[in-house]
Amino acid sequence: MNSNITHDYIREFLWEMEPKDEGLIRELEVEAEETDVPIIPLEVKSFLTTVLEIKRPKRILEIGTAIGYSAIVMSQYLADSGKIDTIERNPKMLVRAEENIKKAGREQCIRIHEGSAEDILPQLEGPYDFIFIDAAKGQYHLFFEYSKKLIAEQGIIMADNVLHKGMVAKNRYSIPRRQRTIHKRMRNFLWDMLYDEDYKSSLLPIGDGVAICYKKS
Ligand SMILES: C[S@@+](CC[C@H](N)C(=O)[O-])C[C@H]1O[C@@H](n2cnc3c(N)ncnc32)[C@H](O)[C@@H]1O
Repeated sequence: MNSNITHDYIREFLWEMEPKDEGLIRELEVEAEETDVPIIPLEVKSFLTTVLEIKRPKRILEIGTAIGYSAIVMSQYLADSGKIDTIERNPKMLVRAEENIKKAGREQCIRIHEGSAEDILPQLEGPYDFIFIDAAKGQYHLFFEYSKKLIAEQGIIMADNVLHKGMVAKNRYSIPRRQRTIHKRMRNFLWDMLYDEDYKSSLLPIGDGVAICYKKS
């Protein structure tokens, strides 16, 4: 599939090079592909887990659980007795996420919050050492505002799909009218993130575009 973010041959090379998981993680990758659930691609998983290996967070917040794939992956990099809070609003996804988290034996460390992130985020208490934003692209600006309230000093906020198939990098008038609101909102989010003096941030053309930002102390 053409990502519109980087050349296909580069992407294919990265995919071929990356070590592959086995067991449940691999089963979930197959499940996601067969049922058309968008989970983080291999190169994003690799970057995410490298950051987590360095950080070893005690508390992680995820916005967008889907079938629980990234939550299960991230749970392998928690500090001792670390916990993940993950938010999902789609009832079908919730059922599958619960099943998968149970299958992975991670019920003790992954808590799913059922409902819209817009409703749940104001109820959560920080600080979180790592926040992963991977939900409705039109709301990233809002999710980022809440994340800034919840992130710890020296914490990391990471957001997936920020280039939205390359569309975000294009001129507003060259994309379909129905996509322009997301385009504008995502650009506003990226602008705020990159120019916020409390953070050191970077934008990476991997997967569908990844943003990473570090809360300076
Ligand atoms: C890209 S998928 C998440 C994939 C998952 N992080 C992974 O890589 O395994 C996005 C998920 O976010 C959920 N979602 C989107 N907007 C949401 C919102 N405002 N509140 C809660 N969940 C949301 C969708 O239902 C969907 O399951």
